[in-house]
Amino acid sequence: MNFYIEPSENLSGEIEIPGDKSISHRAVIFGSLASGVSEFTNFLSGEDCLATLSAFKKMGVYTNLSDDKLIIHGVGINGLNKASEALYLGNSGTSARLLVGLLGVQKFESTIEGDKSLSGRPMNRVLDPLGKMGANIQSKNGKLPIHIKSVNKVSSINYSLPVASAQVKSSLILASIYADSQSKIKEKWVTRDHTERMMKSMGYPVSVTDKIISMEGKGKLNPIKLNIPGDFSSSVFLIVACLITPNSSILIKNVGINSTRVGFLHIAKMMGANIHIHNKRMEGYESLADINVKTSSLQSIQIEDSDLVSLSIDEFPAIFILAANAIGTSTFKGIKELRVKESDRISSMAIGLKKLGINTVEFEDGIQIEGGRLDGGNIECFGDHRVAMSFAVAGASAKNAIKVNNVESVDTSFPSFLDCIKKIGICVNTNKE
Ligand code: S3P
Repeated sequence: MNFYIEPSENLSGEIEIPGDKSISHRAVIFGSLASGVSEFTNFLSGEDCLATLSAFKKMGVYTNLSDDKLIIHGVGINGLNKASEALYLGNSGTSARLLVGLLGVQKFESTIEGDKSLSGRPMNRVLDPLGKMGANIQSKNGKLPIHIKSVNKVSSINYSLPVASAQVKSSLILASIYADSQSKIKEKWVTRDHTERMMKSMGYPVSVTDKIISMEGKGKLNPIKLNIPGDFSSSVFLIVACLITPNSSILIKNVGINSTRVGFLHIAKMMGANIHIHNKRMEGYESLADINVKTSSLQSIQIEDSDLVSLSIDEFPAIFILAANAIGTSTFKGIKELRVKESDRISSMAIGLKKLGINTVEFEDGIQIEGGRLDGGNIECFGDHRVAMSFAVAGASAKNAIKVNNVESVDTSFPSFLDCIKKIGICVNTNKE
């Protein structure tokens, strides 16, 4: 399927965004490990979260998903069973990294597989520390497919994360649940903390001070009820569309604004974005709010090895669209993690921006973007949902129509993207070519 987006005169409206992808994954994982029945509303039925759900069903967890309400009959931390077949996790890096941590320390064997993109992504970042905890895992040169042997004894870990990654942190936290004694995991850069918050809300003995997560092994997880906040990362595509399109104003309601997720807000505001947060409140241990956005005149920005990188890691494709629409030349450095996402996001975005007439210079760990007015064109998204959605919203204010090819990957994180962008007035058609 392709998106064909024509320039819009203005965007407006009030909209709600589907549930947060990271929290939805954790709802399935921790709901399954809880001792009792948990209930989650506003669960994201994107392909990635459904891959996690399917894996737990294969390990004997009873679940019921109806509309966006997910009920999980948790089996307790020792209640999972060996799956009778390989666990296929599609495109989902979060499912793969978190499940390797959990399954690497079980008393049964597992096999984990993924699609072509996931099978090319680095797994040693979790395999190495898990090996220190006693896991016995065979991989294909540090990549999927992965075969996990059963283990009898799990050692606790005292580990400083060499990469800024919530997936690696969460993988080790999950493994540490099975250790005999206390584990400590230290971060150099703050990353999203949904795992720690969900465990606290389930009564697990975990604490965080000075970027060090300390947790006991063999604790208990109590079941919970949680209404999952809207996904901030999905809302960013609508925010960007509104900022760059003339005479626009939108209100996005019930969006998660956990401080470890909203680096984009700081970056966009430094560029001159007119964004206001209203009606801040808590849902369990997560914060959410309504976000009001208005058309803004954007200035270039310089981001180099900033703490903001890990707080906005999924937002860079959308931030590059802001930079392409800003006055002046923006430089982003210290973002080489973008090269090992669903696609190499530095190169995928540079190729697309060049096609739309924007000058870019690629560095090994970043990109320089000369702001201007985007022309129309025919864009590839390299199977990457966030690249596809970034170029789709860029089409709202380009000089001519933008066609984004092969956008199926959008369903991994934001299946209702098309409806949402139409609702705020973006002129988009699809064809199945
Ligand atoms: C995620 C962590 C991030 C992010 C991904 C979701 C998570 O990955 O890019 O979309 O839910 O833990 P890294 O840990 O690789 O940065």
